[in-house]
Amino acid sequence: MTQTKPTPPSALTERTADHVKTKLSSEGSGHDWWHTYRVWKMAQRIGQGEGADLLVAELTALLHDIADWKAHGGDSTVGPQSARGWLVSLGVDQIVVEHVCQIIADISFKGAGVEQPVLSLEGQVVQDADRLDAIGAIGIARAFAYGGAKGRLIHDPELKPTEHRTAEDYLKSGGTTINHFYEKLLLLKDRMNTVFMLGVVC
Ligand code: ADP
Ligand code: NI
Repeated sequence: MTQTKPTPPSALTERTADHVKTKLSSEGSGHDWWHTYRVWKMAQRIGQGEGADLLVAELTALLHDIADWKAHGGDSTVGPQSARGWLVSLGVDQIVVEHVCQIIADISFKGAGVEQPVLSLEGQVVQDADRLDAIGAIGIARAFAYGGAKGRLIHDPELKPTEHRTAEDYLKSGGTTINHFYEKLLLLKDRMNTVFMLGVVC
């Protein structure tokens, strides 16, 4: 009897990278393929330092932005569903599929006053990698790219930053890009998860 050999982890990540690259190559709001690529490479580095399951961390990093909840009317099930469809088509182990999809559902920022679900180590690794790309020079560039793509004002002195207490409020707020710094980006350095990242941002 012939048995099909399991696909090696490196082939799974490479094929997933090709899939995501095709889907996100022309995304214009700072969630493009090269954002995903940076998060993938950073998740590898942090994951190695933290002793995380690298297959889970890498697949999650690669698939985390394929269908963002903000672009789907606040529906955070679309991203995990799309990731699940792809991973099942590759024959990825069911436990890995469930873990990856759970992290994708949980890692997104949904307002400074909204409680964050408890993340597994791999979830913490990918969230830190994603957040690292939201701060510093690249983070500033991405914020203004996002604001431009969504038709947001750069600044309006009449509009003050808000601490959003629900994901719905965060989604609905059409605030300015400068306010987004106070509502999210400047808070991230104090919200990193892993010891590896504390060494990088402190
Ligand atoms: P997360 O991965 O935590 O869900 P987002 O997709 O909300 O992160 O945001 C990723 C990046 O998109 C941010 O770092 C920022 O650059 C940009 N962005 C998101 N929302 C806004 C906004 N309201 N104004 C400006 N930039 C934004
Ligand atoms: Ni991202």
